[in-house]
Amino acid sequence: MQGIFDREYYTNHGPVVQELEARLEATLGVRHALTVTNATVGLYLVARALGLEGAKVILPAFTFIATAQALSWAGAEVLFCDVDLATHHLSNATLDRALRDDVDAVVGVNLWGGACEAAALGAWAVEHGAEVFFDSAQAFGCTTSDRPIGGFGQAEVFSFHATKVLSATEGGCITTNNDELAERIRNMRSNYGIRSAREVSLTINARMSEAQAAVALLSLEDLAANVSHNVGLRESYHAGLGSVPGLVIRDPVGVVSSNSQYLVCEVDEREFGMSRDVLLRVLAAEGVAARRYHYPGVHRTMPYCDGHGPPAMVLAATDELCGKIIQLPVGARVGTDDVARISAVIEAAHAFGPTLRAEVEGTSAGHARMHGADRPD
Ligand SMILES: Cc1ncc(COP(=O)(O)O)c(C=O)c1O
Repeated sequence: MQGIFDREYYTNHGPVVQELEARLEATLGVRHALTVTNATVGLYLVARALGLEGAKVILPAFTFIATAQALSWAGAEVLFCDVDLATHHLSNATLDRALRDDVDAVVGVNLWGGACEAAALGAWAVEHGAEVFFDSAQAFGCTTSDRPIGGFGQAEVFSFHATKVLSATEGGCITTNNDELAERIRNMRSNYGIRSAREVSLTINARMSEAQAAVALLSLEDLAANVSHNVGLRESYHAGLGSVPGLVIRDPVGVVSSNSQYLVCEVDEREFGMSRDVLLRVLAAEGVAARRYHYPGVHRTMPYCDGHGPPAMVLAATDELCGKIIQLPVGARVGTDDVARISAVIEAAHAFGPTLRAEVEGTSAGHARMHGADRPD
């Protein structure tokens, strides 16, 4: 940060951004790491650089809303598929079930520090003449049995938002091994800092600033310690919650090492004794910031659903997961003592289920209004 002030050079692909890109390329083993101002804009740029305006792009509805919104901003026609209940990720079977027509591209979303089956997805895409790229916003620092996430498909997009294991406060990065695609994206990302000129129809300001890059470099220093801290928290949650009926921790799938930046549980209402939403309110009352990320399925949000009547497509697994997933706190500011306390609250919630439920359900309408229950999260 001091160097930035000394140089008085704050943006436009300066030395700190260049250093960060070189470090990311080395860490992820990719030819190009293109920093951007956030992952949403990164996804937008990839879609535009692949020429997907007007194209049919299929993606899972069980994702953060930004995946679909970025494609819509890019002018693509968004089609949704379901996910596999066991893995939470799309699969070739869920893609086949959703297919009504030709598709031009498929977006694999790597959730919860896990990954979809990239090789199988690649084969599906070849068979259908479709491009494939990945929303890896949640997957920085994860490795499959083959290689680090970052080198699959035409491109992958990471988020360096403050909530992520690698933070630039806001930020993101597109990785690709396709030289031509990288040059097109460099030309679109900014009017500055291009290596060689390409003719592109639109440019945008998606630059990462020097200050963002400096924070990301500092965060990179802490990455290994933060990941191992998260792994420790995961073990503590398993120890604390392993015997609670109706609550199952879902560990990351499809990777040999995960950033463990999410702790995802499924709540089975009947077995646990209360719904996920009632449990959330019990936890909130105890000062625990648990979330129902992702909710609702993106197919149930505007502009993909007009909000009146059922959506065009029934995505049963997505709806089921959106109704029962709960994210428990992890990260550098959470300690194993917090995990023990959170686990004790959850155990007590199970033990006193009927009493708590009666109390909470008595005021549910007021609570829904207060918390803007119709907003996606
Ligand atoms: C799956 C997924 N895609 C996209 C994004 C958007 O990332 P950003 O906030 O950097 O735009 C997120 C952010 O949490 C995400 O989880």
